[in-house]
Amino acid sequence: MSKPQARSPRQVVAPKASAEAAVLQELRPGQSVELLKELHILTREGKLNQDSRRKLKQVYHLFQFIEPLLQDFSQNDHAPTLADHGAGKSYLGFILYDLYFKALGRGHIYGIEWRAELVEKSRLLAQRLGFERMSFLNLSVADSTDAAELPERIDIVTALHACDTATDDAIAFGLQKKARAMVLVPCCQAEVAACLRQGKALQLTRTPLAELWRHPLHTRELGSQITNVLRCLHLEASGYQVTVTELVGWEHSMKNELIIARYTGQKKRSAAERLRAILQEFGLEQGLGVRFGVE
Ligand SMILES: C[S@@+](CC[C@H](N)C(=O)[O-])C[C@H]1O[C@@H](n2cnc3c(N)ncnc32)[C@H](O)[C@@H]1O
Repeated sequence: MSKPQARSPRQVVAPKASAEAAVLQELRPGQSVELLKELHILTREGKLNQDSRRKLKQVYHLFQFIEPLLQDFSQNDHAPTLADHGAGKSYLGFILYDLYFKALGRGHIYGIEWRAELVEKSRLLAQRLGFERMSFLNLSVADSTDAAELPERIDIVTALHACDTATDDAIAFGLQKKARAMVLVPCCQAEVAACLRQGKALQLTRTPLAELWRHPLHTRELGSQITNVLRCLHLEASGYQVTVTELVGWEHSMKNELIIARYTGQKKRSAAERLRAILQEFGLEQGLGVRFGVE
């Protein structure tokens, strides 16, 4: 089957549109209104649910980054595979399927989520909508790496606000599955902050830089910043080209960092060296070396 064409949003409302109409305007030809209702993005009357508006904006925005990757990985009749980690209600997976996989007629989306009731709901919804090439696995992200239900290779790994270290587990999954791309929007991550907290007294005697994380709020913020920097270096050291950008405007989400990694095969030695140096400088190598690929 041929590749779905890039489509422009359907103009369904007048230019002086309300915020609600502006999002509805973005509905694409063939997009399932039934799905949007099932996801409670649209009310039964077809109006936009304000609480879900933020999620829809995030997912649409993410789709702009994922669609070109999917197009690339669908070439030569390849059936693209995508694993979405910490899938929750699987907004992202369902909308990706609806906007891309449905028309493509091949490929598969796997949603990984450890809350059984969400997995069950997603399975039922996929069945109801006839989205046959979607599977939902009731697994932790870490356990999914070796799960028999998943293929050996996965083209794209996504993780949208997967909590705490689930993003790191998703990266480990992507590395193991030789993912061609990873699209990550990290959530809060407490592990690095905990290590910073633990070594704080010692580091304060050693370096004025420890002022950066003396106050608890700064420990948390710096921990989060360092985590994402280490993730990027880890990916670069593993052969990925990394772009870091904003997902949507900060008014829509505080957890807004979007990391896009594409496999090039060029493992950057300098990234591995810098990763090691940062771990050392912040006193993190004991607790976190293995997590970020440093033995
Ligand atoms: C904040 S929600 C985001 C859900 C979805 N990605 C979205 O953006 O709508 C995080 C989800 O990840 C799941 N989760 C967190 N850690 C996980 C882990 N280690 N393994 C599997 N699921 C996890 C939670 O149960 C929750 O449903």
